[in-house]
Amino acid sequence: MSLRTHPEVVATFLSTLPPDDDHPYRTGPWRPQTTEWDSDDLEVVAGTVPDDLDGVYLRNTENPLHPALKNYHPFDGDGMLHIVGFRDGKTFYRNRFVRTDGFLAENEAGGPLWPGIAEPIELSRRDHGWGARTLMKDASSTDVIVHRGVALTSHYQCGDLYRIDPCTGDALGKESWNGGFPHDWGVSAHPKVDGGELLYFSYSKQAPYLRYGAVSDTGDVVHTVDVELPGPRLPHDMAFTENYVILNDFPLFWDAALLEHNIHLPRFHRDTPSRFAVIPRRGDASQIRWFEADPTYVLHFPNAYEDGDEIVLDGFFQGDPEPADNGMGNKWQRAFRFLALDRMQARLHRWRFNLVTGEVREEQLTDSISEFGMINPDYAGRAHRYTYAATGKPSWFLFDGLLKHDLHTGREERFAFDDGVYGSETAMAPRPGGTAEDDGYLITLTTDMNTDASYCLVFDAARVADGPVCTLALPERISSGTHSTWAAGSELPRWRDSDSAAAAIGL
Ligand SMILES: [Fe+2]
Repeated sequence: MSLRTHPEVVATFLSTLPPDDDHPYRTGPWRPQTTEWDSDDLEVVAGTVPDDLDGVYLRNTENPLHPALKNYHPFDGDGMLHIVGFRDGKTFYRNRFVRTDGFLAENEAGGPLWPGIAEPIELSRRDHGWGARTLMKDASSTDVIVHRGVALTSHYQCGDLYRIDPCTGDALGKESWNGGFPHDWGVSAHPKVDGGELLYFSYSKQAPYLRYGAVSDTGDVVHTVDVELPGPRLPHDMAFTENYVILNDFPLFWDAALLEHNIHLPRFHRDTPSRFAVIPRRGDASQIRWFEADPTYVLHFPNAYEDGDEIVLDGFFQGDPEPADNGMGNKWQRAFRFLALDRMQARLHRWRFNLVTGEVREEQLTDSISEFGMINPDYAGRAHRYTYAATGKPSWFLFDGLLKHDLHTGREERFAFDDGVYGSETAMAPRPGGTAEDDGYLITLTTDMNTDASYCLVFDAARVADGPVCTLALPERISSGTHSTWAAGSELPRWRDSDSAAAAIGL
C-alpha cells in the first residue's frame, strides 16, 4: 500500500449545531470536528520522533454533532477517538467518531433524540435509552482502554463498550464478552486492565446500586459481585491492587427526595462520610470490607497497591465537591463551575486502609491543584513513585499544563502550556527495556487557539519541565478532550507483521 504522507479526509459528517453558537464547550477550544482524517506520517514541527516510542496513544473526546434538546453539558457530546501511532521513529494518525447506536440514530434523525446530563429525562424522544439515569444517549465519549488488543470506549453513565481497532480506528461493534456482557446496567467508564484481566463496575438507580465484575484474557466474565449501597450513587472510577479492587460510596449523589419525582440533582452531603469498599478480586459479598473516611468526592484514582496489612489508594480529593456560585465570572463559568479543578479544589490525596485493624489514615499529598493523573502503566496495582497529572485553567474545564509529582520526595515538576493552548490527559509510555519508573515518554494532544491548530506533544517523562522532545502537527485543530491511554505495540495484534506500522494497519 502507499503511505498517505499528506492527511487525507476519510469522511465528513453533517453538523446541525447553530452557526452562531455561543456555548463555550462547543466553541473555541471545544469546537467540535466534523471530519475524520487519516495521516501516515505526521509533520514533525519540532524535535525528533523518538525511535524507541513503540505503540499507540488513544484519546477519547466529547465532540457533539447536534445541539442539545435544551441545555448542553460538556459530558454530552458524541465520542470521537484520536489515535496517534509511533513505530521506528515514524507516526500515523486516525480520528473517528464512535459509532454508537445513539450516534447513528441521531444522525439518521438529523438532530438530538436523548437528553443530556443537565436536562430532564422526560425530554427524551425515544422510549429506550442508556445510562444509570436512564433514557440518555450512550455516547461512549468518556474513556478509552485497550483489552485483548482492542480499544474499548466507554461512557461515564454506564453503557456498552464499543470495540475499535486501536490502529485503524475501524469500528468493530460492541463488546459482548462471549454473551456475558451486563446489558441490564451496562458498564461504567474506567474499567481497568491488569495484564490480560479486565476489572469493571456498573451502577444503577436500582438496588443493589453497584456491581463489580472481572473478565478474563479470553473475554469471559469470570466473576461478578453485588456491592450493596444505601441508595443510588455516582461512582466515576475504581482502583485495584494485585489482590483487591477498591470501589466507593461518596456522599455526592442525587437528592433522594427529588429523585422520587424523577429529578436528578446531585447534592454533596457534607456530613456524610466517604466510604470505600475493599473487595478481593474474586471475593463474594461477604468479603467486602468497608472503610470510612472524610467526606469528599473523587473523580479519578491514579493507582492503588498493597503495603503490608494496608491498602494504599491515591486519588484526587475534592476540597469542595459542590462549589457555590460566588458571582465571579460570566454565566458560563458560573454554570460549569463544578468542572473547574480550582473550584472543586482537586488535590492528590492518599488513603491507607488497614485490613487487620480496620483503621483508616488519609493525607493530602500536595497543595497543588491537579486531576486526571496517570502513572507508568507497568506499575498499575503496584507501588509507584510518580504521578503525571493535568493542571486546570482557573474556572474552566481546560488543561493548561502538566504536573509530575514525586511521591518519594514530594518534589513537583511542571510544564505550563502557552496561554491559549490546552492539553489532554497525558499518558505515560514506558520505554521498552527501561528500568527506571520515569524512563519513558509522556504524550498529549493540544488544542492551540493561537495557531488555530492541534499538535501531539511528546515529553521525556524524566524531564517534564524541559518541554516536549517532539511536536507533531495534526491535520486540523481538534476539540479539547480528556481521557487517554497508551497501548504498547507488544499488546497489539499485527503490530510487527509488516515492515512499517502504517502498512501493518492497512492489513
Ligand atoms: Fe473520568
